[in-house]
Amino acid sequence: MNIDLVEKVKAEIRDVVDFPKEGIVFKDITPIMLDPQLSNEIVEHLATQYKDSGITKIAGIESRGFLFGYPLAMRLGIPFILIRKKGKLPYKKVSYSYDLEYGSATIEMHEDAVDANDKVLVHDDLLATGGSAEAAAHLIKKCGASVEAFNFLVSLDFLEGDQKLKQFTDNIQAIVN
Ligand code: PRP
Ligand code: ADE
Repeated sequence: MNIDLVEKVKAEIRDVVDFPKEGIVFKDITPIMLDPQLSNEIVEHLATQYKDSGITKIAGIESRGFLFGYPLAMRLGIPFILIRKKGKLPYKKVSYSYDLEYGSATIEMHEDAVDANDKVLVHDDLLATGGSAEAAAHLIKKCGASVEAFNFLVSLDFLEGDQKLKQFTDNIQAIVN
């Protein structure tokens, strides 16, 4: 891991206490987006990490998973898939419901977004309980593809979200743990 990059990303993540409800320390990644040079470094770092991994598509989880997932897919020259909250996707879709660190949610993916030949990288900004990434992986498997890896900018390791993801792959990475 590039220690310099880890420190820079850490330094730009803002902790917001008691958002969106009491007891949650919210990891605000918007300062990273104010820094285009660091944003580029993140995409380059991830591109180096995954360029020879055999992944065929990147699935980003709405909404913050789109921020780096799509630029990374473009950089790698592979397609990007949108995993969206219920009711947002227009075409035929598959759904999965799950619990969040705060509340619950249903996510959806277009049923033709992946096929049996695909090896998918699931990307999101943050791993908390793992519910969102697990749900995304179930959608991908439901459509016949395999989940090759998970990637996050930040992992809240104390919540042990990776325990929910190991059923799919051991390739679970984050820049900041
Ligand atoms: C956040 C975050 C992840 C998810 C992580 O998204 O961006 O998608 O929660 O939590 P989990 O590991 O417990 O599932 P949120 O639902 O707040 O939506 P947003 O990205 O649209 O802000
Ligand atoms: N999603 C779930 N938990 C979160 C947290 N603590 N900070 C930012 N996004 C989150």
